[in-house]
Amino acid sequence: MTEAENDAAIDAVGSTALLVAAMRAAETDRADRLFSDPFARALADEEGAAMLARAHARGLHKVPLVEVRTRYLDDRLLEASRAGVRQIVLLAAGMDARAYRLDWPTTPGPTRLYEIDREPVLAWKSARLQTSLPRCVRVALPGDIAGDWPTALVGSGFRPEEPTAWVVEGLLVYIEEADVHALLARVNELSAPGSHLLFDVPGRALFESTTSAPAVAAMAARGSPWRFGTDAPAELVTALGWTATVTLPADYAAPFERWPQSSSPGAAPRKLAHSFFVAATKG
Ligand SMILES: C[S@@+](CC[C@H](N)C(=O)[O-])C[C@H]1O[C@@H](n2cnc3c(N)ncnc32)[C@H](O)[C@@H]1O
Repeated sequence: MTEAENDAAIDAVGSTALLVAAMRAAETDRADRLFSDPFARALADEEGAAMLARAHARGLHKVPLVEVRTRYLDDRLLEASRAGVRQIVLLAAGMDARAYRLDWPTTPGPTRLYEIDREPVLAWKSARLQTSLPRCVRVALPGDIAGDWPTALVGSGFRPEEPTAWVVEGLLVYIEEADVHALLARVNELSAPGSHLLFDVPGRALFESTTSAPAVAAMAARGSPWRFGTDAPAELVTALGWTATVTLPADYAAPFERWPQSSSPGAAPRKLAHSFFVAATKG
C-alpha cells in the first residue's frame, strides 16, 4: 500500500500506531531489548519504518518512552494475570501485539483479550497477522472510543461482573479532556472489583518545555496534535474510587540503564519531559 492510499484509510492519529510498532521492531533487534515483539516489523511495515526514520532524522525520539512503556505494561499485565485476571481490554489497541506475544494463562479458563480501535487500523493489523495465532482468545472490535463500544464489548462475551485489566496506552494525549473523563467513567462502569486500569499520560510540563517543543510541533504538523496532559495523573482515577500508583518512565528505566543521563532520576531536567505511567486497581 502506498503512503497516499494508507492516508486515505488510516487517519493521522491512527498512523501513530505504525510509528510505535516501528519503535518496537527496532527495540526487538537490540541485544539489551526490554521486550521482544516479533510481530512489530510486519505491523509497522514500510510506512511505520519510514515514519521512524523521519523522526530520527529530525532529532526526535531521544528517550525510549514507548519502549519503557511497553515493558512496564507487559509487566503489569502479567502481574494481573498471575492475580487471576482472565479478561483484558486494549482501548485504542493500534498495533499492540500482546495477544500474540505474551504468555497468557489458560487455566482455569482461557484469557480473553478484546481490542478496540478504528476499523482501518484493525484492518491493517489483521492483514498483516493473517497467518499468526493469538495465544489467547482475541476479539477485535472496530469502532471509535467515543462510540458505543461498551455494547459491542458486552455483546462479544465481555463479562462486567469479572475483573478486567484495561490498557489505555498512547491514547489519552490525543483526546480532549472531557473525552478522557468520559472514557474513564465508562471503564469504571464496566469494571468489577479487582479490576486493573493501566494507562500513560503526559505531564503538562512536557507540553510546555523547550526540550519537547520540536516533538509537540512535529505531532501538530502531521495532524495528530497532543491535546491532553495532566500533572495530577492519579486523580483521573482516584476521583472514581480507584487506588493508583504513579511511576515515572525514567525511574522504571533506571535498572535497565536505558534512560539518557540528563533525564535520569535525580537529574534536574527530568521534570521537563515526563509522561506518567499509572496502574490503578478497583477495590
Ligand atoms: C499511539 S497509537 C497507540 C496504539 C497502541 N495502544 C500502542 O501503544 O501500540 C494511538 C492509537 O489510538 C487510536 N485512537 C485515537 N483516537 C481514537 C478514537 N477516537 N477511537 C479509536 N481509536 C482511537 C489510533 O487509531 C491509534 O491506534
